Amino acid sequence: MSSLKVHPIRSLNAEISVSGDKSISHRSIIFGSLAEGPTRIQNFLPSHDCLATMHAFQALGVEIEMLEDGTVYIEGSGGELTPCGEAIDCGNSGTTMRLMAGLLSGYPFISRLVGDESLHRRPMKRVADPLAKMGAEIKCQGQNGRPPLEIHGDYPLKAVKYTTRVSSAQIKSAMLLAALRAEGKSVITEKEQSRDHTERMLRLFGASSVRDGRSVSILGQQRLHGCDLTVPGDFSSAAFWMVAAAVSGEAKLILHQVGMNPTRTGLLNVLSRMGGQIQESLDGDSWEPVGKITIFGGAALRGTIIEGDEIPNVIDEIPVLAVAAALADGTTTIRGAAELRVKESDRLATVADMLSSFGVPVEEFDDGMTITGGAEINGTTVDSHGDHRIAMAATIMGLSANGTTTVQNTDCIKTSYPGFEQDLKTVLAENPADRSTLANGITNLIIGKKDPKKLERKS
Ligand code: S3P
Repeated sequence: MSSLKVHPIRSLNAEISVSGDKSISHRSIIFGSLAEGPTRIQNFLPSHDCLATMHAFQALGVEIEMLEDGTVYIEGSGGELTPCGEAIDCGNSGTTMRLMAGLLSGYPFISRLVGDESLHRRPMKRVADPLAKMGAEIKCQGQNGRPPLEIHGDYPLKAVKYTTRVSSAQIKSAMLLAALRAEGKSVITEKEQSRDHTERMLRLFGASSVRDGRSVSILGQQRLHGCDLTVPGDFSSAAFWMVAAAVSGEAKLILHQVGMNPTRTGLLNVLSRMGGQIQESLDGDSWEPVGKITIFGGAALRGTIIEGDEIPNVIDEIPVLAVAAALADGTTTIRGAAELRVKESDRLATVADMLSSFGVPVEEFDDGMTITGGAEINGTTVDSHGDHRIAMAATIMGLSANGTTTVQNTDCIKTSYPGFEQDLKTVLAENPADRSTLANGITNLIIGKKDPKKLERKS
């Protein structure tokens, strides 16, 4: 089992381009596979999660090839998928399982979806129930609506009008994919808007959906046409470095080619509210907005409230926002985030556990937590609980803690950000550094011996 060891940093001056967006990479494989004609994907994220989606379509008979330079070529099936004799392994990926469930509901054969231990703890009735209304039968074979899933698909499906109980892009996208295989118009409504990558990608591949407030409507039987696309950098991966810079005593971090989709960039609003110094510029607004973000350190952050509509927009960033909260003055309250209990780990519990082990006072609620910032942060040993975002958030916290922090069980980082360690090296290498060694044996550059931020803030 690999681990990462970090020491506090004195300053952070770096320019990086994070790897491709996870959500968009999944969808580029799905839409390219279903389209007529070839699709070429650049900056595809070769993370375990996205590779699970790629392997799923290969198992369903789609020709997909990844070149050494990372470019992915898909020979679109025009929607003709072949039944897969074996179970499709979705690994750790909720996005793969839920979106595939939606899609395969519209194919008149039986498919089986399985995953790892963590995925088998995640709720699937949230997709099985609406898909059943469209005419598919989905058996959740685990306890209480958990995976494995056995999908008895049908074609054509019935169009539906459905309001989701949870605001989730995975549920909405599962239904949009099923709705493409339905007759007539389906309307999906959510309480708060979730990320809209599926709607944007429908447009890119020549189909459409119409947004009206919190509802999206889509006509079934639309054709998709293959295309060339470049996946924007992942805002959720960039978020780790944004927080690292914002909490640093002295920092200038420039992030290039980052996805700036407004349904994803809530962390910028939260960090600004906390007093973070941020500059943003759009490179151009095409099918997905992409831009440059510059974060300056040195500002004393203050606590804030994160709740309501903002939650779906920062759902994957809450672990690292909790790190910012711990290093800010005053308290930060997060409410309405019960959804975090059913992510790759119970993220309210694992974030609270991670912060407590660094010495941060945290009070946990059913749907959130209060974090009291400003405590002395001491290096510690943290277990990621197999959750990539906890592993990375703990590493960022370690950059601001006194002494050494060891993050254990870091293999999981490859589910969303295989380049994390390399980007960590880049961030650290551009600063005055001393050499140290990661626990997994890779030589890394780790700087600083004290907690300079604390020294500067308190002096
Ligand atoms: C995702 C949606 C989010 C997010 C996940 C990726 C997607 O989940 O947490 O990492 O690609 O649609 P929910 O939509 O279930 O909140």
